[in-house]
Amino acid sequence: MHHTYSEKIKESLKLVEAMREKNIMSEPNRMTSEQKNNLLASFHPDYNEKYFDTLKIGPNKGDRVPVELANILQSHSRIKPDSVDLTKPDFETDVLIIGGGGAGAVAAIEANNAGANVTIVTKLRMGDSNTIMAEGGIQAADKPNDSPEIHFLDAFGGGHFAAKRELLAKLVYNAPETILWLEKLGVEFDKDDSGDMSTTHGGGTSRKRMHAAKDYTGAEIMRTLRDEVINRQINVIEYTSAIELVLDKKGNAAGAILMNMESGKLMVAKAKTVIIATGGAGRMHYQGFPTSNHYGATADGLVLGYRAGAKLIYVETLQYHPTGAAYPNQILGSLVTEKARSLGAKLVNKKGEVFVHPLETRDVTTAAIIRECSACDNGVDVGDCRGAWLDTPMIEKIGGEGTIQKRIPAMLRMFQKYGIDIRKEPILVYPTLHYQNGGLDIDENCMSTSINNLFVAGEVAGGIHGKNRLMGNSLLDIIVFGRSAGANAASIAKQITLGELTLSHIEKYEEEMLSAGITTSAVAPKLLPDYTNNKKSTQK
Ligand code: FUM
Repeated sequence: MHHTYSEKIKESLKLVEAMREKNIMSEPNRMTSEQKNNLLASFHPDYNEKYFDTLKIGPNKGDRVPVELANILQSHSRIKPDSVDLTKPDFETDVLIIGGGGAGAVAAIEANNAGANVTIVTKLRMGDSNTIMAEGGIQAADKPNDSPEIHFLDAFGGGHFAAKRELLAKLVYNAPETILWLEKLGVEFDKDDSGDMSTTHGGGTSRKRMHAAKDYTGAEIMRTLRDEVINRQINVIEYTSAIELVLDKKGNAAGAILMNMESGKLMVAKAKTVIIATGGAGRMHYQGFPTSNHYGATADGLVLGYRAGAKLIYVETLQYHPTGAAYPNQILGSLVTEKARSLGAKLVNKKGEVFVHPLETRDVTTAAIIRECSACDNGVDVGDCRGAWLDTPMIEKIGGEGTIQKRIPAMLRMFQKYGIDIRKEPILVYPTLHYQNGGLDIDENCMSTSINNLFVAGEVAGGIHGKNRLMGNSLLDIIVFGRSAGANAASIAKQITLGELTLSHIEKYEEEMLSAGITTSAVAPKLLPDYTNNKKSTQK
């Protein structure tokens, strides 16, 4: 298939080509922190007040959250509590894991190691997750010029000094061992000719510590984890969602109400401990943005936890990855890995000018692209969308012919399908909803700070990255916190005798909604995105 650009785009393309050699040689300035703060306040979507609301009820009452999230947090349950017989559970397990992505799989492996009986429930198939779609890599400070302390400083600054220090410290100190653990399980990381790990920079990193399997690192990791779960014969119930947590009379987590996604049939799962590992929220399409996320990323874990009384942290901060595909329309919002910029591609406006350092932190780069395409009127118009050029041919010029094929073959293939050879021509990009920086508030043991015996791991957990995550720290966090949640949930499960089960939190929540005057027809968790009636994401 061949693409056809308008005459205007072709003219802009000529300017990009003409400026390429000069742009390769020039080192764009880094912004001061004042410049960054001003840019973010004016152009980052997190600061666009018209898309935010204040929560009227629940543990985060009074907090500002995206309107779409407020709507599902302040919503009705999918069930009437008295229609469910909690005295006759359909099955019992020591550790119930909700979510079959990277964090869920890792937690299952460690809980299984600890001798617990483990059950994973997942609303799609085992492995369908943001993990399997992750591209650029996983950070770990394991080179002689690096250290976990330097890794900490990079991530702490990148997250606006808001990360919970004990969580971030746990992340970075466990990183080197995490790479070894993954290698031992069978993950094949890229290595140079002498057998050392190939590492690159990510935005906001002061050392090259990104370990990768080309540009499908997440697929390589998820392949390995899924095989491990299967080989260990861990119970996996697919196409089954959790729609409510079950508590015991003391208010501790004690299971979940499950729903078969096809038949709608309900099941009661009784569990000594529960791990929420439901991932992110890209399919909420906050502010109408397209997303790089998988089909099931609908913030379910936040709803399950919040209705049962679990506190949230930093859910007002979303990550818009700077380089989602803006053209062609068939792949709008799909991820163009940051690794393209690590390998030398720069962001260029319609006049062929480099307008931002390619490896600023993501929030800053995103705001710079939005400014360039709006206030500066320097974006390239592509039908309904605008975009900036990502000058990928620079990669071949800097790294030598064949670098793209060797290091980012998935990107090459993705655009080749539409007749675009990224080795020879630049591509059009625009920010895409990529990651939820915040989530359920956890302590160092991955337990919810509000509900005992409820553990949380992966993207649904908040506080690890502060208010903006650096590239490659998410694949790292699903492993570090997945392992910890699995081991701790298994260990606590050994000490527990469950009391009577209850769903009284649902009624309590309904009463709170009533007294706060909330009238809504919304029912949540959402489970799947709604693309009916021409509801589609549009670019902002
Ligand atoms: O750009 C990327 O490859 C994304 C990586 C990440 O979100 O960590």
